[in-house]
Amino acid sequence: KPMRLWGGRFEGGPSDALTRLSVSVQFDWRLAPYDLLASRAHARVLHRAGLLTEEELERMLGALDDLEHACRSGEFRPTVADEDVHTALERGLLERLGSLGGKLRAGRSRNDQVATDLRLYLRDHVRHIVSRLVELETALLNQAEQHADTAAPGMTHLQHAQPVSFGHQLLAHVHAFARDIDRLRDWDRRAAVSPLGAGALAGSSLPLDPQAVARELGFDSAAPNSMDAVADRDFAAEFLFCAAMIGVHLSRLGEEIVLWASQEFRWIEMDDAYSTGSSIMPQKKNPDVAELARGKSGRLIGSLTTLLTVLKGLPLTYNRDLQEDKEPVFDAVDTLLLVLPAVAGLAATMRVNTARLAASAPDGFALATDLAELLVRRGVPFREAHEAVGHLVVWCQVNDKTLDELTDEELAKVSPHFTPDSREVLNVAGALAARKAHGGTAPDRVRDQLASLREIVDAQ
Ligand code: ARG
Repeated sequence: KPMRLWGGRFEGGPSDALTRLSVSVQFDWRLAPYDLLASRAHARVLHRAGLLTEEELERMLGALDDLEHACRSGEFRPTVADEDVHTALERGLLERLGSLGGKLRAGRSRNDQVATDLRLYLRDHVRHIVSRLVELETALLNQAEQHADTAAPGMTHLQHAQPVSFGHQLLAHVHAFARDIDRLRDWDRRAAVSPLGAGALAGSSLPLDPQAVARELGFDSAAPNSMDAVADRDFAAEFLFCAAMIGVHLSRLGEEIVLWASQEFRWIEMDDAYSTGSSIMPQKKNPDVAELARGKSGRLIGSLTTLLTVLKGLPLTYNRDLQEDKEPVFDAVDTLLLVLPAVAGLAATMRVNTARLAASAPDGFALATDLAELLVRRGVPFREAHEAVGHLVVWCQVNDKTLDELTDEELAKVSPHFTPDSREVLNVAGALAARKAHGGTAPDRVRDQLASLREIVDAQ
């Protein structure tokens, strides 16, 4: 006979179709440790309210411990007949305590329970996600440290634009992940509100103490409005936004790594441990980790969209639609915990082809801006300087020359301000070093950035 928490007013049993539709234990079972945690706090509050004797509390806590061990060892398992995690655990409690087990439900509803469990689960797992992000940041920081002085082609529109320090480019990704961690920390502040005590929607007529329960469970406070407490899934949606944003950042890094590893770029060589082969082409070495990072962002964005769509237009307070909050949240957590270590490993072990990067850094007339800015320093309006250097670039293209191969006469022809020493700005190291204001790509600024990022990451 299926275990149900609501049989009293029903004559017939539920149809199979309803049972199959309604059951969530196959995915919400992972909330069991958090449900047990909240149950312990609830048992204590019932005791303080005089609703459980000292002896009953001891037996209740003992049974909850025993049930927790049994869950951990797999000796206690949910069955398809248990509707959800709360139902399964109540069955476990009844098996251990008989009718005393039925006292724990006083003053509590699955509505405040499930909202509490999911917050506890997420706050816990966000800490793991942050640790994995820190590992990824560290891998990128270490590479950036090696390559502060490595010149690389900087791109806009995927076209050569201006040379940059390759370390600078790697740190750009670190900043994105650092913001993600910051967002998660900020998220936690808002998620640290306990719904327990809200009951089904209106609070409880029993003398419970929601603030004490909240503190006991590590929340900052109890929800100030019982209706909001059971209806609110902002914390889940906001988490999913953070996860989707991480996914987007991973996809952009992933895409860059795919490009860098290609024959056309040859900027990096991936370690064997983080690349794959082909079943037919013996020579292949594929960037599957980077591609999966790029691809998995799709499901992270999908999970956010799923939950927002479920929430849209829902009336207060609890509606069964809210059961649909869990799978997207769990999938996002699983996805991040799967992808982040792989990308961290890929980033930590990739070998950067420094010579190739340096050689291609000036390609595509990437120093043209430096030439134009030289004219600006000599008093030429930038508009005219831009025009003059543009003519030089066309001339070089037609004559298959690079900018530094131009003769004194060829330079002087487009502007009298070009003197023979003008060619001095046409070197990559100088171009990098010149961009030395705050935030620029000068290797010294990259090292400053690295130091401050290391501090930020250490504090994360
Ligand atoms: N399994 C439900 C969920 O995940 C628990 C709450 C059920 N509450 C109810 N009144 N049916 O949302």
